[in-house]
Amino acid sequence: MDLQVLPLHRYPEYTMECCQLINDEWKRSETARLRSLQSSCDYLPACLILVQKGKVIGHAKLSSIPSIKDACFVESVVISKSLRGKGFGTHLMLKTEEYCKDILKLHTVFLSTKGQEKFYAKLGYEECEPISIYGTPNYNSVIKQNCPASIKHVNSAVNIPKAPPLPTAVPTEVVQTKTFMYKSLS
Ligand code: ACO
Repeated sequence: MDLQVLPLHRYPEYTMECCQLINDEWKRSETARLRSLQSSCDYLPACLILVQKGKVIGHAKLSSIPSIKDACFVESVVISKSLRGKGFGTHLMLKTEEYCKDILKLHTVFLSTKGQEKFYAKLGYEECEPISIYGTPNYNSVIKQNCPASIKHVNSAVNIPKAPPLPTAVPTEVVQTKTFMYKSLS
């Protein structure tokens, strides 16, 4: 299929095309989008692009999770609209996981989705409780119920402060509409 999954920061010539691909799916200001793409680096965050015959047809962004060592959060996974349902998304995710494991030396990938649960379940992702990529999540329950032993160990050694309660102005149902999932990279 002549497919390559490349770290965007090593191929900056694809930045504008990638920006358009993502903005075709999730409209956002070009400036903000470019800033996010240009933050890609050799560790995290990292933007990976799926390139076929010199054209960007897919994208996935990997971000750090401050409270979980050896893990990352995958977001903004997208395949060109006209090319969906042909296995490109699967290829991108498998290569992204390979990159996480072999290059970044990470053990677990987390994500959240609304509507693509079956796609990720087919790839081996399992549901877990919500995590926060900004600060400390409701992490104890994630550890107890879902996470692999390596993560339990890392976090049991760290005194993680309790997450502050959500501001009452934020409706809980909005926060909970996304399904959080994870996959161990063994
Ligand atoms: N519901 C059920 N099954 C699905 C869905 C879905 N929404 N999407 C794909 N599948 C199935 C396919 O039927 C296929 O099944 P099969 O192996 O039995 O044939 C399998 O999952 C693999 O599908 P691919 O062809 O590899 O997936 P595709 O190339 O279409 O990429 C993707 C999937 C990335 C979700 C694409 O449809 C897309 O870009 N969607 C719009 C953007 C989006 O919602 N991205 C995910 C956001 S969540 C996040 O970023 C963590």
